Amino acid sequence: MSGLKLLGTGSGVPSEILTNDDLAKLVDTSDEWITTRTGISSRRRCAPGETHTQLCLTAARQALDRAGLNPEQIGVCVVATLTPDRLTPAAACVLQKELGLGEDTVCFDLNAACSGFVYALYTAQCLLAAAPRKYGLVLGAEVLSRVTDYTDRGTCVLFGDGAGAAVVEWREDYPSIHAVLGCRGNTESLLIPGVAVGVPSYIHMDGQPVFRFAVEVVPQCITQVLDKAGISLDDVDRFVFHQANQRIIDMVVKKLKLPVEKCTGNIARRGNTSAASVPLLLDELVRGGSLRSGQRALCVGFGGGLTWAGALLELA
Ligand code: UT7
Repeated sequence: MSGLKLLGTGSGVPSEILTNDDLAKLVDTSDEWITTRTGISSRRRCAPGETHTQLCLTAARQALDRAGLNPEQIGVCVVATLTPDRLTPAAACVLQKELGLGEDTVCFDLNAACSGFVYALYTAQCLLAAAPRKYGLVLGAEVLSRVTDYTDRGTCVLFGDGAGAAVVEWREDYPSIHAVLGCRGNTESLLIPGVAVGVPSYIHMDGQPVFRFAVEVVPQCITQVLDKAGISLDDVDRFVFHQANQRIIDMVVKKLKLPVEKCTGNIARRGNTSAASVPLLLDELVRGGSLRSGQRALCVGFGGGLTWAGALLELA
């Protein structure tokens, strides 16, 4: 057995708060519709001048500090994102310079949309097994406001900005994260056209098929992770779901008969921050004392791709 433990977490959260009432001034919507259909009351948005890099740096520095590590000790740095400041250099390369990571640190970005952080954790576990330094810095970070169409009420009420970071350690005697990753190549339901179109590139989402997809794959993913790990639902201390829609989480909780107190989230204050949502929540749980040393969190992401990813992470 070999694998990872979580040593420290951090968050980078922009200053601007965008409430449902603020959005109701932009599009034909209401606080009542957004709250009841999604569970979201407000989300954070970068103000002009606030950057993806700044959010990442704040989150990464906190995580390193709480892990008690120096940047030179990091062997692998992976940033899960689909909205970096630049297509190249990667956000992870910018962190290499700004944090002072070693020049031989493996640094790159990864795009698996809302599953990205869990994909990145698994990637870090694999790479750290071979790396000379056994500490990894894994982030999920998004400035989704850059790709949000604030005239489309079907999407603009959902998304927020933020970054979450985790410092992990790989050891031979640590448990595997028993990751289960999947992808169902789908280019219609959830996409951002990107540089190909040459015009502002916004999120397009056909919400209902994505909703049905999530309710189908998340319980399957959880069951597969538990099977791989040889443990039961009762052995999990916290379920850390991608915060896409409170109704999705409620349906998964009902389907698997999960204890609601182990499934609390932050969607009401953060909205959907894609790759950042799992590490942002993980950080809140650790800082709030809801995930303690020796306890296990089952993290689950799902979304664009369409992708899904689940993994177990124990707090050192
Ligand atoms: O993070 C990646 C993964 N993403 C997800 O998991 C998202 C999954 N999907 C969802 O969460 C939901 O499908 C949404 C929140 C996006 C939409 O909720 P819904 O209950 O599926 O609504 P709908 O799209 O079926 O729309 C129902 C009605 C429509 O009106 P009509 O055609 O019934 O008259 C929409 O035009 O609600 C209308 N509507 C709105 N009304 C007020 C859609 N958005 C809004 C809005 N305010 N913001």
